[in-house]
Amino acid sequence: MIHKFNTPALLIIASLLVPVAAVPQEAGFGLSSPAELQESGFMRFLLPRFSLKTGIRITLAANNPEAIISTDNGVPLMEGLGQVYYLQITEDDTPQRGKAQRFAAWLDSDIGRRAIAQFELDGVQIFAPIETLRAAEAATIFDGNAKRGEDFSFANCGRCHVVGDRNRMKGIGSTPSFSVLRSLPDWEERFSTFYARIPHPSLVQLEGVSEPFDPAFPPANQPLRLTLDQLEDILTFVSGIMPADLGAPLVEH
Ligand code: HEC
Repeated sequence: MIHKFNTPALLIIASLLVPVAAVPQEAGFGLSSPAELQESGFMRFLLPRFSLKTGIRITLAANNPEAIISTDNGVPLMEGLGQVYYLQITEDDTPQRGKAQRFAAWLDSDIGRRAIAQFELDGVQIFAPIETLRAAEAATIFDGNAKRGEDFSFANCGRCHVVGDRNRMKGIGSTPSFSVLRSLPDWEERFSTFYARIPHPSLVQLEGVSEPFDPAFPPANQPLRLTLDQLEDILTFVSGIMPADLGAPLVEH
């Protein structure tokens, strides 16, 4: 008797894991993942969101899974519970593998990342998706020399920009200070390309990147030449500047 109840119960559990959607179900692929991702309810939360969209069923705990989430191998997927989780897709060229790759692409899309970030326990986000990781890493990858960047900036940018306390009274009033620029969300983009942004093209030459000054319009002042290494030093220095209070007035274009 008990068996009669157990089988439907199992089916119900299975259908909770991967609800049958309006999209017709295709044969799926296998996925293995660390136990805590299942015990926390994360898999039950995540997988239906993929299956609903694609109709691709995911079998957890399959033999020879096509997709493996682990804490040591593959492409970084997300961070949480004190570790980084990685996703790996097997090499075997099977139809299941193609589906697993669609899963990987979905996880790497905005929708997939959002789904990862939306999972909460007691109202607290548990996992930060890979994009967040990338951004966090990008913010610390500058491996120039901050001190050299600082000295270079005071010496060469400081006659127009307030670079820091040392030249607080020296910059040109209408020119944004480094700390104001640093507070802009795209500061990195602005500093990496500053040599191409007005008014710098007539002042600055980035070695190997800038076009030579047009002889018809020679630079007015002593041109400033800098190398990519010096630019990296500047970026390293600026990444460590305390951003200005965003409430402070910002010199706008
Ligand atoms: C001759 C004066 C002058 C010098 C020297 C100068 N800048 Fe500027 N810079 C400006 C002005 C003026 C602006 C504002 C331009 C605007 O608002 O359109 C500016 C803007 C910028 C911006 C923001 C650009 C944007 O489009 O948002 C960055 C980044 C920057 N400067 C970096 C530097 C760095 C780094 C140096 C030194 C290596 C430097 N500048 C040297 C005058 C100068």
